[in-house]
Order: sequence, then structure tokens, then C-alpha cells
Amino acid sequence: MSESPNHNSVCLFSMKRMLLAAFAATALAGFIIAQPAPNAEKKGPETQLGQSMDKLNGAFRTLRRQVADASKNAESLALVATIRTEAVAAKKEIPLKAADIPAAERTAYVTKYQKGIDDLVTLIGRLELALKANDNAGAEKLVADMASAQKAGHDEFRKKKS
Ligand code: HEM
Repeated sequence: MSESPNHNSVCLFSMKRMLLAAFAATALAGFIIAQPAPNAEKKGPETQLGQSMDKLNGAFRTLRRQVADASKNAESLALVATIRTEAVAAKKEIPLKAADIPAAERTAYVTKYQKGIDDLVTLIGRLELALKANDNAGAEKLVADMASAQKAGHDEFRKKKS
């Protein structure tokens, strides 16, 4: 009893369909797995201090791009105002990392953090004066100093991600 060519082509057809279905199921599974878990979604800052730093960062990034451009000094001064507001707010907070510091050293640690922010605010004041005087070369240097202050502040006071 030989199978008819018609039967063969039906078999081939249903195999193709099965393969297609398997492929679709695999693709769907892959897609589902690739989705982030609901609470692993892009997280914002965890703390009030983190939120202030985030806003400060947004203004600082724009400022860095345009600080040399004297035609944008009015706009740059507005960014500097935001940076100051957020730095002043940040000073009122306590870094997360303070909890990892031995209790006996914690107050001194927080005082040192506050001094770090004060130094940043001093640079912000000088930057404001430079921009008002249309001294863009001076302003550029101050922005570089702020970036150094950021690095030093983060090295000492920002908790490393675990
Ligand atoms: C131009 C200057 C600075 C910029 C642009 C900046 C930017 C940032 C950014 C983007 C974060 C992460 C926020 C988040 O999403 O959680 C952060 C966190 C942090 N920054 Fe800054 N930062 C600056 C200066 C400083 C200085 C001078 C200090 C300390 C003296 C400091 C201390 C911290 C700390 C402690 C955190 C972690 C937040 C927490 O512990 O809750 N930053 N900063």
C-alpha cells in the first residue's frame, strides 16, 4: 500500500505548520523572558538626595555643553540657578553611605559631606559671577572644577552599587 502523493503533501503541509507554530511559540517565549520584571523597571533615584542630584545633573550636563558659548549666558545662568537650588537642597540630606560608617565617626562624616557641598556652592557662586561678566573662559574652568568636585564627592560619599 503506497501513500498517495496527495497524502504526502498534506503531511508536509502539517509539518510545516507545526514547525511554524513551534517557531512562533519560541519567539513568544523569548519575547516574554526579555521583558523586565515589573519591579525591575528603570528605577529613579532612591533617595531625596538622589533626586536633587539627578536634577542638578540634568542642568549641569546642558551647562557643560554650552558654557563656552557667550550667546547663551542668560540661559546658562538659569541652569546655574537650578544647580544651586538642588545643591542647597542636597546639603540638608544625609548620604545613604553614612549608615555604613561606624557610629562614632558618622557625625564627622556627615559634616565633611556638607563641607563638600559648600565647596560646590562656592564654585557655583564664582561661575555665576564669571557668566555675568561674560568671562566664558573663566566659566569653562569653573565647570571643570565642579566636575572634579563631583568626582571627589562621589568617591567619598556615594554608596557603591552592590
Ligand atoms: C556637578 C556636581 C555633581 C553632579 C552633576 C552630581 C550628580 C549626581 C548623580 C547623577 C547622582 C545619582 C542620583 C541617583 O539617581 O540616585 C548623584 C548621587 C550622589 N551624589 Fe552627586 N553630583 C555632584 C556633586 C556631588 C558632590 C560635590 C557630592 C558630595 C560632596 C555629591 C554626593 C552625592 C551622593 C552622596 C550621592 C548618592 C545619593 C545618596 O546617597 O542618597 N555629589 N550625584
